[in-house]
Amino acid sequence: MKLRLISFALVLCSPVVFAAGAPPKAALCNACHGANGAAPIAPNYPKLNGQNKEYLVASLKAYKVGDRKGGLAAVMVGQAKGLKDEEMEALAAYYAAQE
Ligand code: HEC
Repeated sequence: MKLRLISFALVLCSPVVFAAGAPPKAALCNACHGANGAAPIAPNYPKLNGQNKEYLVASLKAYKVGDRKGGLAAVMVGQAKGLKDEEMEALAAYYAAQE
């Protein structure tokens, strides 16, 4: 029984959920920003694909410390607070490389 549960968990974490090379947390981000950051769920949610890596990192840091406000920034503050610097770098590099 335990083994079956583990197999099921592995299926849930299969490459269908995480595209090759995507940082683990990209799945969370994609819930709003769309697959590869290219298809946001709402028109006022930004695309992330192909954006400059430095800009993405700077934006995430600004949300985290509360420097970026207004618009829908509040939605991102909680997201950014859960990210370490290394995770921001990895996510930014990933989205910058998406078409
Ligand atoms: C609940 C929905 C939601 C989730 C989950 C989410 N975002 Fe966002 N994100 C938004 C919205 C809405 C904005 C626009 C905020 C604003 O108006 O400043 C945004 C903005 C951004 C921006 C700024 C883009 C720009 O062009 O200035 C970046 C970078 C970003 N998100 C990265 C991420 C990353 C990385 C994750 C995963 C850790 C993530 N987001 C998860 C909704 C979300």
